[in-house]
Amino acid sequence: MEKRIHHPYLASKVMPAEQAATLIRPGMTVAMSGFTGAGYPKAVPLALAGQIEAAHALGEKFALRILTGASTAPELDGALAKVGGIEFRLPYQSDPELRARINRGEIEYMDIHLGQVAQYTWFGFLGKLDVAIIEVAGILPDGRLIPSTSIGNNKTWLDLADKVIIEVNSAQPAGLDGMHDVYYGTALPPDRKPIPLVRPGDRIGEPYLRVDPAKVIAVVETHGPDRLSRFSPPDETSIRIANHLVEFFRREIAMGRLTQQLLPLQSGVGNIANAVLRGLRDGGFEGLTAFTEVIQDGMLDLIRTGTILTASATALSLSPEGVEEFGRNIELYRSRIVLRPQEISNHAELVRRLGCIAINGMVEADIYGNVNSTHVAGTSIINGIGGSGDFARNGFLSCFVTPSTAKNGAISCLVPMVSHVDHTEHDVAVVVTEQGLADLRGLSPKQRARVVIDNCAHPDYRPLLDDYFERALRDSPGKHTPHLLGEALSWHERFIETGRMKP
Ligand code: COA
Repeated sequence: MEKRIHHPYLASKVMPAEQAATLIRPGMTVAMSGFTGAGYPKAVPLALAGQIEAAHALGEKFALRILTGASTAPELDGALAKVGGIEFRLPYQSDPELRARINRGEIEYMDIHLGQVAQYTWFGFLGKLDVAIIEVAGILPDGRLIPSTSIGNNKTWLDLADKVIIEVNSAQPAGLDGMHDVYYGTALPPDRKPIPLVRPGDRIGEPYLRVDPAKVIAVVETHGPDRLSRFSPPDETSIRIANHLVEFFRREIAMGRLTQQLLPLQSGVGNIANAVLRGLRDGGFEGLTAFTEVIQDGMLDLIRTGTILTASATALSLSPEGVEEFGRNIELYRSRIVLRPQEISNHAELVRRLGCIAINGMVEADIYGNVNSTHVAGTSIINGIGGSGDFARNGFLSCFVTPSTAKNGAISCLVPMVSHVDHTEHDVAVVVTEQGLADLRGLSPKQRARVVIDNCAHPDYRPLLDDYFERALRDSPGKHTPHLLGEALSWHERFIETGRMKP
């Protein structure tokens, strides 16, 4: 195995994952690396799951509070959830096993803005961190750590945890060295200073993570890839959504509200986001920048072809093909990509100052522009709010995208009243479906309802929404945001009872 550990004391701490896992005891708060399937520890969580299962077989209680950057992978969330090893989880997840247990009420889950996790921890709101388990790409002779494919909350975890376990993954490209920018200038109020970043590509910190070697109780060598899913090529619906947005940007340029370079883009995860990026490339846009959380395959494509000049994020979330492409042109990508802690990539002050264009997926929007990004039928979580709120509230333009229907047309993604609110009408500027785009800026609630129904609803549901809105206009006691409350919620109840929203 290639030598990645160059600090003699830390090299003396190398041990098998199974031995490192025994250092974690029931009830501990364990903070781990990992952000959207990138840079999570590959070996210790699996060993820990084995240990928890063995304890349960003996009738012993063994569950942990698990904190990360964002979602991880089956070897972490899946494995620990499966053995009943998680009692509390934050701030984001996307694992089917973990999701099922959260929705069955077996695990407490705190869904929190990704940009706020670090400060919550520093404020002491999350209690003491017992152990941090952090994947890195290497250890320098002076003990500093070369971050892996994501930084997430690692700086905070390393600073605040009582003890640290480091996984050194030699399968992560050595060429990651130099791509990161870890800012150590954050402070707590009232001593906070402005963050000196004025362009998405600015470097304001150092390329390495610091750790106090005295806190390191184990170093584990691993050699495994990140577990990241392949993207399907954009389908017809995603392409239509992307085209509406690109057309909208062109109109904004024509009106002088945006320049040809737009403003720094934040794009959420998933196939629609990838299609939008492709739409920008095919639409001839050049010299763009991105200030976002995750760099997906679509973004690499744009960087290689010059559509995007610089991209700032906290994670490289690439498919296996994306990983190969990244390795082939690593010098180019290192000169164009900066990976930062998520408290910086998602910082309200920076998103506001840079004027980001936020494009995020959603589950449903209501006719007044409130958005649900997280829940099915109001009570079951899908993933979490992620960073969408950091960008939607603070960006220059906040766009939410979705197909107009879900579950093969059985459900409308435009509804009278969302079954759960993540982004209020005050944080949503543009709603886009394959049917069209609703520009909600400068409109009152009733004006917004008209454009959402007319432009975004599927033709199968438009008459139902029209009928609801007209009756609400007539019968609602208040006429500012007209509603027939019982009926608005019965849309969701109808879906729960019959599997479809139509009467
Ligand atoms: N009502 C009920 N279920 C719905 C629905 C609706 N209106 N819209 C979608 N769904 C279901 C889908 O059917 C699917 O369920 P299934 O897997 O059982 O088929 C699931 O929700 C996910 O939908 P899908 O179309 O595959 O979603 P996506 O990949 O486009 O992601 C979100 C959409 C909202 C789940 C995703 O964007 C998300 O998690 N957003 C929150 C986090 C975020 O915005 N992060 C951005 C910064 S990284």
